[in-house]
Amino acid sequence: MIDQSLQDGSLTLGPRTREFEEAFALRHDVPHAVAVSSGTSALEIIFRTLGVKGREVVIPTNTFFATAAAVVHAGGIPRLADVSPDTLALSPETLEAALTPEAAVVVLVHIGGFITPEIDAIRSICDRRGIVLVEDAAHAHGASFDGRAAGTFGHAAAFSFYPTKVMTSGEGGMITTGDEQLRDEAIVYRDQGKAGFLGGDHVRMGYAWRMSELHAAVGLIHLSHLDEAIVTRRRVAARYDQALASLSGCQPLSIPAASISNFYKYVALLDPGIDRADLKRELSERMGVSLSGEVYASPLHRQPIFAALGDGDSFPVADDVCARHICLPVHSDMSDGEADYVVESLASVLAGRTMEEAAKS
Ligand SMILES: Cc1ncc(COP(=O)(O)O)c(C=O)c1O
Repeated sequence: MIDQSLQDGSLTLGPRTREFEEAFALRHDVPHAVAVSSGTSALEIIFRTLGVKGREVVIPTNTFFATAAAVVHAGGIPRLADVSPDTLALSPETLEAALTPEAAVVVLVHIGGFITPEIDAIRSICDRRGIVLVEDAAHAHGASFDGRAAGTFGHAAAFSFYPTKVMTSGEGGMITTGDEQLRDEAIVYRDQGKAGFLGGDHVRMGYAWRMSELHAAVGLIHLSHLDEAIVTRRRVAARYDQALASLSGCQPLSIPAASISNFYKYVALLDPGIDRADLKRELSERMGVSLSGEVYASPLHRQPIFAALGDGDSFPVADDVCARHICLPVHSDMSDGEADYVVESLASVLAGRTMEEAAKS
């Protein structure tokens, strides 16, 4: 497919991009999809189309830098909220606590590829107050709750195809929406704010947020493997669940049956007192097991650039879960033997840690 693009000379915003958009929309059961250069640009374009300039956008403090940065770049004011310890996502309670009369948009992040079972309650709060719900679905390709796919819960959603994600296009992002007008605006924004692809007036403050045909070709192929990738990842996660049930020192995040996670991340909470950095070091050096990156090791209000968005004790749950959780390795070709080796290694390292804790107390 890449060869075909090179041969026919259509290198950006061409037939492969349209095919990728259509296939992605179909897989996620949404009317429209617009391919862009990254998950970050997908978020910024959504915020620009919603007109967040000078208005508050509520986001969980436990998210990636880009969720907040996109709000700032679109001229909005990020307002942080704490998360639930059961889902690592916004809950109705943490959302209510963060809402002010200035709130225009709420962003729900499907953290680790898991859609919170409180999604409908969160949507109802937004609807009651006339606030727009946006999904940061950067982690959630193919995930669903109650038979409904990520990307169908909010007014619009932003997906990322960064290489670490469950599916990738190398670099790239996708906006999904049921709103035809938002779709049309997004098409203008992604290509320098031009009213039409071939020339035309610049009518919006857009940017070079296009997806190339070569990236779209990679994305299309990867999308066709998404379902098998999710099956493998869920098999590994089920094996981890079973093994961790009899392990002390670490509890997996419990995911209700109605929520079909894609297991971008397999999250488990360490008991208080177990030092994560030490545990990771020992797992790596003694057993050759590298845990994957956390979601997230530090909440946004602990990042120097966003420190002004929360004082020391503003978000106690996020502080706690960000400091204590680990993400076990999961990849889309993982074998049962590899998963078993991870849990045996974790069990061995944790056994040492829990004995040390017991001796201290
Ligand atoms: C929660 C979240 N939002 C947004 C993004 C931004 O996506 P990208 O890296 O494609 O710009 C990421 C990417 O890692 C993410 O994890």
